[in-house]
Amino acid sequence: MPSLLLVFLVASSAVGVAAGGGGGELKHIHLYMHETFSGPNATEGGVVASPFNTTFGQVAVFDNELRAGEDRAASPLVGRYQGFIVGTGRSSPGYLTSATVAFTAGELNGSTLSLEGPFFGFAGTAERSIVGGTGKLRLARGYYLLKLIGKTSPETAVSEIDFFVLMYSSTH
Ligand SMILES: *[C@@H]1O[C@H](CO)[C@@H](O)[C@H](O)[C@H]1NC(C)=O
Ligand SMILES: *[C@@H]1O[C@H](CO)[C@@H](O)[C@H](O)[C@H]1NC(C)=O
Ligand SMILES: *[C@@H]1O[C@H](CO)[C@@H](O)[C@H](O)[C@H]1NC(C)=O
Repeated sequence: MPSLLLVFLVASSAVGVAAGGGGGELKHIHLYMHETFSGPNATEGGVVASPFNTTFGQVAVFDNELRAGEDRAASPLVGRYQGFIVGTGRSSPGYLTSATVAFTAGELNGSTLSLEGPFFGFAGTAERSIVGGTGKLRLARGYYLLKLIGKTSPETAVSEIDFFVLMYSSTH
């Protein structure tokens, strides 16, 4: 029992410190997501149709490019945005997105972020949770904002992504 109590106390004090804002560094990562809808190099597509003939139950997968800039040809690839989206709204058009950001270059090369959250449409800015990470981003949490900038060709589009990642500090 004493050891369980200690674990509980340590866990709650860590949560308290982080929630107070003094627990770690808030890292801002600003990137652009490049999607290709069709063709041999499509980065996303539907895999399961709705059994209800609505959006409810639809599943699509994506493996979009994350680049430093808005201009795809001129910007280096820094990671992939890989995941799936499922229609989870029975009578309203709600979706659930679950994704991994896998960094492939730069200081975060080899590290990942785990993302989860809703999608209600392309209008405005979508906000979702950062629920964890690996490598240099272990125990990360936070949120990210995703905004469609527009189509760059009939088959491609670019969005702006801002990740706000609360980094775990091992010094406390
Ligand atoms: C698909 O990607 C390959 C390899 O990068 C490239 O050679 C090819 O031109 C691309 N095809 C299209 C239609 O963009
Ligand atoms: C699916 O819904 C569409 C639009 O509501 C309708 O036109 C179509 O007939 C439906 N298909 C089936 C198989 O129910
Ligand atoms: C990223 O890391 C992998 C594995 O260590 C390495 O092969 C690759 O060259 C790195 N890429 C960049 C752009 O640093």
